[in-house]
Amino acid sequence: MQPTYFVTTALPYANAPFHIGHMMEYIQADIWVRAQRMRGATVHFVCADDAHGAPIMIAAEKAGKTPQQFVAEVAAGRARYLDGFHIGFDHWHSTDAPENHALAQQIYLDLKAAGLIATRTIEQFYDPDKGMFLPDRFIKGECPRCGAADQYGDACEVCGAVYAPTDLKKPYSTLSGATPVLRASEHHFFKLSDPRCLSYLRDWTGAAGRLQPEVLNKISEWFAPREDGSAGLADWDISRDAPYFGIEIPDAPGKYFYVWLDAPVGYLASLQAWLARQGQTLEAFFANPDVRQVHFIGKDITYFHTLFWPAMLHFSGRKAPDHVFVHGFVTVGGAKMSKSRGTGISPLRYLELGLNPEWLRYYLAAKLNSRVEDLDINPEDFVARVNSDLVGKYINIASRAAGFITKRFGGQLAATLDAEGAAVLAQLRAARPQIEQLYEAREYGRALRDIMALADGVNGYVDAHKPWELAKQAGADAALHAACSTCIEAFRVLTIYLKPVLPALAAQVEAFLQVPPLAFADADTPLGAHTIAPYGHLMQRVDAKLLDELLAPPPEATPAPALPGGEAVAEVITIDDFAQVDLRIARIEAAERVEGSTKLLRLLLDVGEGRTRQVFSGIAAHYTPEQLVGKLTVAVANLAPRKMKFGVSEGMVLAASHADEQATPGVFVLEPWPGAQPGMRVR
Ligand code: 2FM
Ligand code: ZN
Repeated sequence: MQPTYFVTTALPYANAPFHIGHMMEYIQADIWVRAQRMRGATVHFVCADDAHGAPIMIAAEKAGKTPQQFVAEVAAGRARYLDGFHIGFDHWHSTDAPENHALAQQIYLDLKAAGLIATRTIEQFYDPDKGMFLPDRFIKGECPRCGAADQYGDACEVCGAVYAPTDLKKPYSTLSGATPVLRASEHHFFKLSDPRCLSYLRDWTGAAGRLQPEVLNKISEWFAPREDGSAGLADWDISRDAPYFGIEIPDAPGKYFYVWLDAPVGYLASLQAWLARQGQTLEAFFANPDVRQVHFIGKDITYFHTLFWPAMLHFSGRKAPDHVFVHGFVTVGGAKMSKSRGTGISPLRYLELGLNPEWLRYYLAAKLNSRVEDLDINPEDFVARVNSDLVGKYINIASRAAGFITKRFGGQLAATLDAEGAAVLAQLRAARPQIEQLYEAREYGRALRDIMALADGVNGYVDAHKPWELAKQAGADAALHAACSTCIEAFRVLTIYLKPVLPALAAQVEAFLQVPPLAFADADTPLGAHTIAPYGHLMQRVDAKLLDELLAPPPEATPAPALPGGEAVAEVITIDDFAQVDLRIARIEAAERVEGSTKLLRLLLDVGEGRTRQVFSGIAAHYTPEQLVGKLTVAVANLAPRKMKFGVSEGMVLAASHADEQATPGVFVLEPWPGAQPGMRVR
């Protein structure tokens, strides 16, 4: 039996528009789905907004909206991106929809019946002003190791120390500025420590062909005994206290499921809503033993999808995923993307500039493989691949031959071809099983390389037969007809092979060839003496200037959002207290990245002492060394030298930022007005 596929991509948080990383994942999955359908498989391809959690609740509050309104507005913007890049989800749902509430609660009850839910009282930081427990990312304070200020609750960006939020010195809530207090609360746990879980997950993860080798490696680290000798998985805290935007836990008033519990359940809720439209239920769907469940995800959420999710499904009596396909991150020109702000490539701007969405699909596909590797978008490479390969090798085949068929042969193709043409076509057809297999294996880059090699073969045939010369020779009509018909037939087969990547172009080609929608098997059935429509232009070359425009920073620097509330003002000090801080104008003489740190830049400062000082500053995500060298700034000159992992830091550079970097991103180094000299005191 042909399998029936249930395919998803990760559910995006409903607090921001899509960035290029989302589009890459959706395009990767969309190509796979289209290729499966072209082989005759039935596929249900669904997604949804991941609506719940504290960050969304807080963002909605800041925007003066209910969380429901807030996520609905984000959801309303999705179609422009999905339609724009020809991403053909069958259905788009929300994890806040009723199906998901019911399913998440039922799965929880089933897990409880299986003896896998425990409750324990734990102590957590609580914001007495906001009246809520604080997620780690909303707590900051001084690093317990190096004393750096404004460090997050889990790790220090300056010295790299990792700790619990309760270890922070002078902790404060980034929501209100209040000092958090420890408060006890009962939490619900999924008992992953139960030996049944480890035993099941060893089997599930180890199944042949289920997971990628790199993913299996990572998982073996998670399964390995810990330093203290204890083995097995830790229980997973699945509850959060009100106020929380989420799904209530049955029989536990004021307790909600942690967003990561109900998010993957959203895969099933979306499928359920989609099947309901066809009068089918989830139960009936999963009763079919030939159903294959496949999730496409990014590498950062592997843990959730390869441990928690299969265990939740299996122990609640449901079918576990067949495959979790993990991809890497997108970089642009080598620069890593920020998860919240994306890269320099805005998908909507791409479309607004009139860049063809299928260029991006082709380019991404050309660089994708089945491994967990990051994918770099490089503008020069983009132009080269689209212009020389896609247009130069493939589109050209049709544009060189179609005019003669229309003008000289009334649009009708030749019934018989010459021997070389037949040989070229036989070679194209012989490649089909391998190309189908490469799509199945997500080796899109190799598939496209193979297809372009086939196109090279066709172009070799065109160059040898020179239709433009045959057209001028008397008595060469039959040869011209055969040569051009070979080209059109080759173009048709190549179009079939490229169709998962270029669905809109393939639809245009189907109209031009006057054929119904093409599937892989159609490669074997030649058109014969078929009549085609006149050739219309199919695809242009990329104008490199447009790409430059896409990558150029927007005309005015991104305006910083208005300060929402702001950070609470610190305790009052006297002028003498202030005078103890020796602030000096400093010239940044040199700046460089620090190997082994994504956060730090190493600066050499001239603060007017006739020598330079080394200072490490956590601004590498915001400034390049080149932007800083030669600039004046303000430094704290009498800060006790600090020994850091990378060397001694003799002071610090002043920069403005908001305590809640999520809502108000950016770090802005201070710069004095013209005239200030290195060494001048700032008072
Ligand atoms: O990391 C994320 O963007 C999550 N919203 C992904 C959730 S995937 C699934 F579990 F819903
Ligand atoms: Zn530190």
